[in-house]
Formats: sequence, structure tokens, C-alpha cells
Amino acid sequence: MDCSRWKMGFHLMPPTGWLNDPNGLCQLRGTYHVFHQYSPAWPAPDAPRGWGHFTSRDLVTWEHHGMVVQPDTADEASGSYSGCAVVMPGAAADGGDALRLYYTGNVKEPGDFDYIRTGRRAAQILIESDDGMALGPKRVILRNADYPADCTCHVRDPKVWRDGDGWWMILGARDVEDRGLILLMRSKDGVLWTSAGEVRSPEPFGYMWECPDRIVLDGRVHLSFCPQGMEGLPWSNGMRDQSGYVPMPDGTDLSVPGASVDVRAFRRWDAGFDFYAPQSFTDETGRTLLIGWMGVPEPPFDSAPCGLTWCHCLTVPRVLTRLADGTIAQLPAPELERLREAEEPLAVPGTMVLPGRRADIELAGIEGPLRLTLDGGLQIAFDGRELSCTFIGDACRPDGIGAGRTRRLVPLESLSSLRVLVDGSAVEVFAEGGRAVMSTRWFPVADALSVSLDGCCASARAWSMGDGMPDPAEA
Ligand code: FRU
Repeated sequence: MDCSRWKMGFHLMPPTGWLNDPNGLCQLRGTYHVFHQYSPAWPAPDAPRGWGHFTSRDLVTWEHHGMVVQPDTADEASGSYSGCAVVMPGAAADGGDALRLYYTGNVKEPGDFDYIRTGRRAAQILIESDDGMALGPKRVILRNADYPADCTCHVRDPKVWRDGDGWWMILGARDVEDRGLILLMRSKDGVLWTSAGEVRSPEPFGYMWECPDRIVLDGRVHLSFCPQGMEGLPWSNGMRDQSGYVPMPDGTDLSVPGASVDVRAFRRWDAGFDFYAPQSFTDETGRTLLIGWMGVPEPPFDSAPCGLTWCHCLTVPRVLTRLADGTIAQLPAPELERLREAEEPLAVPGTMVLPGRRADIELAGIEGPLRLTLDGGLQIAFDGRELSCTFIGDACRPDGIGAGRTRRLVPLESLSSLRVLVDGSAVEVFAEGGRAVMSTRWFPVADALSVSLDGCCASARAWSMGDGMPDPAEA
């Protein structure tokens, strides 16, 4: 079968190889930089991860620059793991803004180790750059001996920010009692760091917290993180690893002494099948954007069927806003609308076949229950209480278009608007102004996209979408 229909046009994916977490997100001197976990040699076994790199001037057209941070020093021999970017106003040699990248060097010592308490090293590494393209030398700024004594060897994924007093870093960690937590570090210059304590939840909440992020919206601080070891919880769908956020109490910050995380307020970012390890950044217009990995660790479903030589993609950039009830709404960056091509009519109720495999579908003024079915197999439905995403019929079989995905749902009180982005083998669903979001991969076999609508809405529009990542060989 021709698998080219599964390639994405506006969800970032590598030309070949494996992608996971977004890293080093920023806008520097007008250019958006999206680094990402990358193993170009995948599916070759044990290919260590480094950082791949995409750039764009407009969040619409992207260029991939290959693997730009290689796991080529003794402090990252088993992988250059996830990390972040900090823009330094006026710090470049030419007086313009410069960039700092902070990430984790992962080393698994050869031998008979459990790689939790022994046998693993986690160094935090700094790279500086004046333009985001030419990367300077690597400097190790923290090693295992610098972390609190109650930590295991699992310490990673630095997120760094500055305030009036200097620099702060949070790291995801696992302690010796197998509880997830955040380590707090502080520094005067972003180079010399000392431990400034731990931020925990009073109750245990998973054995490891990965990819912490600090997100400030309307002055309110939120901790975003990915707790591992959640499979027993009723809302976890049996998935070990989850991704969500917790608002910090009003007026407090992670760096305030005694800060603690109230996990009863934990909200998942995305209730679909394929979402993990998101990272946020503030762009030059002041918007907070979030990009996630459209994949999950150790899934019970497939993301590279039929021997694909590439695996996974990122979500589109999502603009974050805080709603009155404390929920963070997520909507696609409006720039994506520039990829809209011909508007295609949608009949409600009815079925339409849209040309190609990329579409932006927008429903407004929805009343009552709704069912939107793609290719007769992926059903997005609202029943008055829940929003669901279900692979129906043969689509939910391991060899069906869901490649083993079955059903996900999220409580939702009302639905008046729905936006669905379909892009090759990626689908993102934004309901009720981004109050509920569901992402999934799928592997459709038809040449054109069929959209069936059942329900009632005042307006139903669809556009076929262009390609923001044209293959240079085809250009
Ligand atoms: C999350 C994660 C990070 C780590 C990276 C390695 O998906 O496990 O904690 O830095 O992936 O690729």
C-alpha cells in the first residue's frame, strides 16, 4: 500500500526515524525554533536520542535541519534527553537576543544495574547560541551529586526561567521511595546552580514526574508535568504515563518556600490516545503556546504500521488561555488558517467526500447530540455529557485504521463548537473553544477523506489544507 497518505503536512514530523518530546521551544529574533527528541537511525535498535530541529518564520512553513544536538560526549552517551530554551535579551555578540539550551545528558553504565538507583547518570548540560542555528560548546552544569540525597538516578528534563532574583530551574525526579517530585534549583547567572529544595504533592502521585513545565497565565502559575505509574487510576485508561497540569495556589510560585502541588486539581491536557510530554513557551507577541508529542510511551497500539520508516509527530502549536473555572483552553494557533485551501461544503446531516487527506473542519452553533465520523471508522461524538473519540467496527481492530486504538472519552457539559484538524495520520479535536481536547493517530486507507455529520448545527465548514513541510526533493 502507498503509505505516503499517512505523512503529515502541518504536524511536525521527521523525514525518517523516531521523534518524541518537543524540546527547546522558543521564538528568537522572529524565528520559531522547535527542537525535538530524535533518533534518525530508528528503527535500528538502540539508536540513542539527540535533538532534531525545525524552524519557521510564521508557524506555517517549516524546515527540518536534521539532528543538531548529538549524543557525542561521555555525559550523554545514552542520549541527549529533553530540555528547554531561554531567550536572553541583548546577550548576543551583535547586541541582539541570544539563546540558551538546557537539557539532560543520560548515561547508562554498562553492567548489571537496575538503572533506577544504580547505573545511571543524569547531567544537566548547557549550550549557548547567538542565532539558534550555530550551537556553542556543551557545558555540564549539574551532576547526580548535586541533587538531594533522597533522589534516585532519575532526574531530568530541565525547565528554566528568570525572575528579579536570578534564575530558577525545575527538574523531574523519582525519589528513593518511588515517588515522583520536582527538584528546584537556583542560580545567579544560569551557569552555577545550587539545590533550592523539592516541590512535592502531599499524597503520592506516580513514581516519577517527567517533563515539568511552569506556565504563567493571567499571573497564575501552573505546574505541568507527566506523572508515571498511573495505570491504576480510574481515569487513566490503564495507561502508565499521563500528562496534565495543576494550578498553584493563587499568589504562589514553585519557587516560594513550602510550595506544594495539590494533585486533586490535576487536569489532563488531552483526553485522546496520543499526547505526552508537552512544552510551552511565550512568543514575541506575548502568547503562550503549547506543543505536545503526539505519542505516548509504551502504547498498547501501533504508531508505525506497515513497516513505516518514521514514527510519531508533534501536535500543532496550541494557544493557551485560562478560563474562569481554572481550565486552560487550547486552540490551534490562528496562523494555521493560512494553510486553508478550497472551502468544501458540508451537509448536516449528510456525508461529504473531501479531496486529499488534510482538512480543517469547523462546526459552530451546535445544538444537542452530535456525531462526526471520519472515513466511516473514527467517530467523534457528544451525547450531552461526554465527548468521545471511538474507532468503530473494524477500525478498532489491531489491523484496522485505529491500529489498536479503541475508545477515549472526557466529561463535557455542553458543546456548541467543534474544530477537527485532520492531517495524514494525525487528528486533533478541539471542543467548546478548546475546553476539551482529544488527539489521535489513525492510519486511513481511502484516497479521500469522508466526513459524515449527524446532529444539528448552525454552521458547518471545511477546508482542504496545504502542506507546511513540503519535501525539498519534491519542491
Ligand atoms: C519523556 C521522556 C523524557 C526524556 C525523553 C527521552 O517522553 O522520557 O523524560 O527526557 O523522553 O527521550
